Amino acid sequence: MKVLVVGGGGREHALVRKIKESKRVDSVVCCPGNGGISYDAECYNVSATDIDGVVSLAKEIGTDFVAVAPDDPLAMGMVDALNDAGFPTFGPKANAAVIESSKVFSKNLMLKYNIPTAQYKVFDNPEDAVEYIKEKNEFPTVIKADGLALGKGVIIPETLEQAEAGIKEIMEDKIFGESGNKVVVEEFLTGPEVSILAFTDGKCVKPMVSSMDHKRVLDGDKSLNTGGMGTVSPNPFYTPDVAERCMNEIFIPTTNAMNSEGRPFKGCLYFGLMITANGPKVIEYNCRFGDPETQVVLPRLKTDIMDIFDAINNETLSELDIEWSDEACACVVMASSGYPKSYPKGIKINGLENGQLDGVTVYHAGTAIKDGKLVTSGGRVLGVTALGDTLQEALDKSYNAVEKISFDGGFYRKDIGKRALSAD
Ligand code: AMP
Ligand code: GLY
Repeated sequence: MKVLVVGGGGREHALVRKIKESKRVDSVVCCPGNGGISYDAECYNVSATDIDGVVSLAKEIGTDFVAVAPDDPLAMGMVDALNDAGFPTFGPKANAAVIESSKVFSKNLMLKYNIPTAQYKVFDNPEDAVEYIKEKNEFPTVIKADGLALGKGVIIPETLEQAEAGIKEIMEDKIFGESGNKVVVEEFLTGPEVSILAFTDGKCVKPMVSSMDHKRVLDGDKSLNTGGMGTVSPNPFYTPDVAERCMNEIFIPTTNAMNSEGRPFKGCLYFGLMITANGPKVIEYNCRFGDPETQVVLPRLKTDIMDIFDAINNETLSELDIEWSDEACACVVMASSGYPKSYPKGIKINGLENGQLDGVTVYHAGTAIKDGKLVTSGGRVLGVTALGDTLQEALDKSYNAVEKISFDGGFYRKDIGKRALSAD
């Protein structure tokens, strides 16, 4: 088989590597890919949001299967277009991807089907939103842009002034464009966060091993939200008890709800959960593999991933036994100076040979090859990842490798896994 992976970040690099392990796969190609992915897969310069371009590429190179990884093309209907053109795919159709691309949709779904989540209200004009926050007078509060916003559409104001400024930025200045036409204002929840990626064929849902993201840019969960500065798997807060509750109260009800709405979800459904004093609650759904969660989850997958993709397409997932390794995995993200705000590109990366380093797997998120040299091309640059018998061992391997890699201005969090270790 020849498999095309659509996307160009660290998550796609992890997918490319896992698909390459499949006994059934001869070659993996990627579009647009990136500098590091190009060592593992031929990369084609077609944008991940160019639906016609990707369909044409799939035909031109004779692809047998296409995995669509990022949120935008899924929301735009890339899987629908590829299926119409006759290609088997991995990823939900647009009518199911809406579970991520509209927070208003997902919040209303949870309310309707009694799936635990923060209490909320939806607003389509800024005055009413501010009035509601003023009346409630409970801080911090949480404001979410309705649509996609690169993981940055959530603000958590501590004061009314901050809330007013946030609503103005989202709804009037439109810093996230049309995504800010509506906002969700919701109750602030507390508790450890758990990321669960789950395979589902619409009939049955099979959670993968758990993970923990580190979303803020600085140590101690300080400063701005990012796409994710590092991950560990497993997540110790996801105890067997919590897992059982999540299965019964959240995972199965969500797939059933999507079926009842005529929007069967096939692919990877991502549950962003908070384990509150009142039980697990959904913070967000994503319609895809998480980034950088995928980088610590897929290295632990023992079952052939193409068998899983096939079972999802054939709706036979319930018959497949999916096996995972007991090892722990850690991923430390190295980012460009300035990220998640503006950052330079084209900076030479030192310390890697053919994009890799012994003892770890370096998933490339934002790299390019320029004049034969590996350079930075994004905010998140590398995800330095290692497996270990214990989480401490995995973290030690990752951090030892990180110290051997450098690029001007590059930085990383020094406390990835700290909260997970102290929970043990
Ligand atoms: P999201 O983009 O929805 O994942 O939100 C980004 C981050 O904001 C989450 O990972 C949480 O840390 C935080 N967050 C979102 N919603 C809430 C909430 N209702 N209460 C507390 N924190 C939240
Ligand atoms: N790491 C969070 C996400 O993929 O949205």
